[in-house]
Amino acid sequence: MIASKIIGHRGFSSLAPENTLAAMSIAAKKGVEWVEIDALACGDGSIVMWHDETVDRCSDGTGTMSDHTIDSLKQLDCGSWFSPEFNTQRISTIEEAILSIQSLGLGLNLELKRYDSNLKTLVDPVLKLLQKHWLDFDKLIISSFDQATLTYCHQQAPYLQLGQLYGKIPDNWLAQMQAINAVSCHCNHLHLQQSQVTDLKQAGYDVYCYTVNEPQLVENHWKWGIDGIFTDYPQRF
Ligand code: G3P
Ligand code: MG
Repeated sequence: MIASKIIGHRGFSSLAPENTLAAMSIAAKKGVEWVEIDALACGDGSIVMWHDETVDRCSDGTGTMSDHTIDSLKQLDCGSWFSPEFNTQRISTIEEAILSIQSLGLGLNLELKRYDSNLKTLVDPVLKLLQKHWLDFDKLIISSFDQATLTYCHQQAPYLQLGQLYGKIPDNWLAQMQAINAVSCHCNHLHLQQSQVTDLKQAGYDVYCYTVNEPQLVENHWKWGIDGIFTDYPQRF
């Protein structure tokens, strides 16, 4: 297994606002070994740790990420929506996130969200930052739902461990995963079948399920041989 059995989803998003430095720090404090975070490009090309296409759900601002610059994003309160005690949380650049996660000694699954941004706009700066800062590439998996993003990552940085994200696993999963030399399949636990786990494991891939917040939902999946889960509630597992 490359990552850990229990991966903190967006940090530790049941105890702190998702994709904030506070969520990373709580994950480390609670003994989580790997975290998953999301990365996307905002309007001026800065890459930030954020999940949604807009700022509305997880901040006191409004608008799409592509309408914001890093300066306007830095003005937003990204914690109070979760709880007043987090009112100092600000959006982090992916550089700030990577440095924090690495200094906490956590493994990282960096999920690249392309939305409508240009491939190179998103991936080039991320690869540059990883080259500059990330020390242990065994403790890093880059994942995406977007095949073009993963293909480009593989071309530009073949040494990266890539995880293929799927909602439902398609029939041509093996060809897709071989094309990018993936190490893992990250799939929705709701759609996963036992035969798919058997085939994935036989082909040599790690299998991680998202987003599992109730242990009983994956009782069978563990028996089928999955390697780990993404959860907002690592404390329940
Ligand atoms: O990477 C696993 C999971 O985070 C994928 O879905 O929407 O939570 O980013 P989402
Ligand atoms: Mg994600």
